Amino acid sequence: MKNFLNISDINSEDLKQIVEEAKIRKKNRIGFNKSQADNDKPLDGKSMIMIFEKPSTRTRVSFDIAVKQLGGYSTILNPDGIHYGKGDESIEDTAKVLSEYADVIMIRTSSHKNLEEFGEHLSIPLINGLSDQSHPCQVISDILTFEELKGDIKGKTLSWIGDGANNMSYSFIEAAVKFQFNLKIGCPKKYSPNKKIINWALKKNTRIEVSTNPKDAVKGSDCVMTDKWVSMNDKGDKKKKKKILKDYQVNKKLLSQAKSDTIFMHCLPVGRGEEVTNDIIDGEKSVVWQQALNRVHAQKSIIKWCLD
Ligand code: CP
Ligand code: NVA
Repeated sequence: MKNFLNISDINSEDLKQIVEEAKIRKKNRIGFNKSQADNDKPLDGKSMIMIFEKPSTRTRVSFDIAVKQLGGYSTILNPDGIHYGKGDESIEDTAKVLSEYADVIMIRTSSHKNLEEFGEHLSIPLINGLSDQSHPCQVISDILTFEELKGDIKGKTLSWIGDGANNMSYSFIEAAVKFQFNLKIGCPKKYSPNKKIINWALKKNTRIEVSTNPKDAVKGSDCVMTDKWVSMNDKGDKKKKKKILKDYQVNKKLLSQAKSDTIFMHCLPVGRGEEVTNDIIDGEKSVVWQQALNRVHAQKSIIKWCLD
């Protein structure tokens, strides 16, 4: 049984195949209505259950459409409406029950530990729809978007600016290893990625640099990315965190240090005027809406990989 919990768990060939299949399926349905099923309906008669312990717009809707396009059914559970969410049924029992009803399950949770515990007790594949530690589905969609616009990501240089120690940043570090791109991270010392993951990436011969100077981190880059300064899981003083990150805003001046044909990415939702200015996110270098659309296509491939 295959779970999709972290980019680092999956071998490079499979990850690349997931991105390639997304490209092919996307091309094959040009002209189709948005929720029309693909001709081969690989999920015919099958279903997916989703549990969202935290808010979601893109992941929720794009997975729902992805399942429809694969010819299957989806059920979205609100933790408040199920016993597990109310704290009166264990993860183990919930996992065993849900395994009887569906073919694949996706969970968005604050606790990566809970996700892993679910995985241990499920007899169907589990997909991580975002945890405090990683957001692998988003990163697959971002690689798909990058390659549609810039070709093979291998050997290209991507920059991550802002909070270097959140779920997105960690999944990007893992992706740099698996897809062999160069990653330059620009972040304050306080929000640097932990040493363990950086050392792991360096040991795998990945070109990864962490700098407190955002200009250095953006120089010569093919793609500049950032994320909300305060993530859903952040428990500390939000004002203080934003103050520390204020020199890491992606704006015209900073972006001018990147390659002239660089692209700007953001997983959304965005803190306009905080981590990025409006002229950048709404400007010609921004590919954020394509990224959001590609969540559908990336997720179809991820579901298929889990079930193959
Ligand atoms: N990018 C992303 O995961 O968005 P949602 O939180 O809206 O799902
Ligand atoms: N780092 C953000 C990503 C949102 C999609 C968060 O966890 O809130």
